Amino acid sequence: MPAGDLEHSPFWYVTLPSEEAARSIGQRALLTKMLIEVWGEGSTWEELEAALRAYPEAAMAPWTGPDQSFKVVVDTFGSKLSMDQQLDMIEKLEFLPFKGKVKLRSPDLQFVLLVVDCEDNDSLVDVALPRRYYFGRQVAAADRSVLESYSLKRRLYLGPTSMDAEIAFIMCNQAKVRRGQLMLDPYAGTGSILVAAAHYGAKVMGTDIDIKVLREGKPGPGGTDRVCIGSNFTQYGLPQPVGLIRLDTHKHPLRPDLQEVLHAIIGDPPYGVRAGGKKSGAKPELADKRNPSPTPPRTYPPRSPTRLVSACATCWTYPRGCWWWAGGWSTSCLPRPRPTARPRCRATPALRLVANSEQILTMRYSRRLVTMEKVVPL
Ligand SMILES: C[S@@+](CC[C@H](N)C(=O)[O-])C[C@H]1O[C@@H](n2cnc3c(N)ncnc32)[C@H](O)[C@@H]1O
Repeated sequence: MPAGDLEHSPFWYVTLPSEEAARSIGQRALLTKMLIEVWGEGSTWEELEAALRAYPEAAMAPWTGPDQSFKVVVDTFGSKLSMDQQLDMIEKLEFLPFKGKVKLRSPDLQFVLLVVDCEDNDSLVDVALPRRYYFGRQVAAADRSVLESYSLKRRLYLGPTSMDAEIAFIMCNQAKVRRGQLMLDPYAGTGSILVAAAHYGAKVMGTDIDIKVLREGKPGPGGTDRVCIGSNFTQYGLPQPVGLIRLDTHKHPLRPDLQEVLHAIIGDPPYGVRAGGKKSGAKPELADKRNPSPTPPRTYPPRSPTRLVSACATCWTYPRGCWWWAGGWSTSCLPRPRPTARPRCRATPALRLVANSEQILTMRYSRRLVTMEKVVPL
């Protein structure tokens, strides 16, 4: 539940079965900064101190012994504190029964004093949270190193709409991608989401209407050998995709009797801003022209523009088919004009709407990350 029952609070109370569970969350979750065992909180310093003094000594004892080095850090939300102010606050915590040595580098334990202050007009964040102090033991911290390793800045094969690493990994987390699962990206493009899913050990499969982006790639940096989706997998030492198929999601050629073969479907349909939706078939203005000579063999299957909404709708109807495991998850990034309502992603008896989150892109556009769980076989 959110701290203070404020739905927009960035602080949430969770009950976890073990510290191990908290550490696993820390290792994988990218939007969680840290998990803290809260020892006390209050809206004034006096309230915090009273809460900490009331915290059972037996609960503190495993973490305050002489053999454990420790460090207290001050973290703020909504405002900044000078180094002197932070040190003053840490000194005021002297009443806590720590017997171990303070060690600033790699201590055995880290404690956090969190100061929330969004009340001033010049608050740094756009949420109204009352002043509050929290103190507790840091059980886990987010490991975001994966984002640095997979940063697009150093990726070999990129296109104008390559999905940034953070969102690609978040999408895989939303879809609970795990080792050994089979995952599909119906709009694979340069394969950014496939790469993220492969990092988590899934066998990945991508489809796209554009054979050039899927198979041929482009010249590498500085005119070196061509790079393609496979180059990205080689770059990160990941197993290659189990399949890359050129198809149009509007009329895909896959067998209708396929049953529950996919665990996760994660897609980033065309936005229509930098790359519009496409469908198979010649452009209408070319389709009518009669070619007097025998039709030359086509090098690439023709494509024509299609409406964004139609591509997005397909994203839901196509994976909704039987080849998605009951218990499997689907996540899609859908563009929306702002500030209109959420996309029309309705739950059905077979699909449970799990999350619908907004990422604001510009004043006029945002994209929504919509996650569905298939709850019963179709
Ligand atoms: C927003 S891009 C996806 C980018 C991808 N996530 C990446 O990291 O490169 C959308 C992709 O959908 C493809 N596409 C457009 N219409 C399609 C259709 N009808 N069927 C399949 N793919 C389509 C485009 O060729 C494009 O590669």
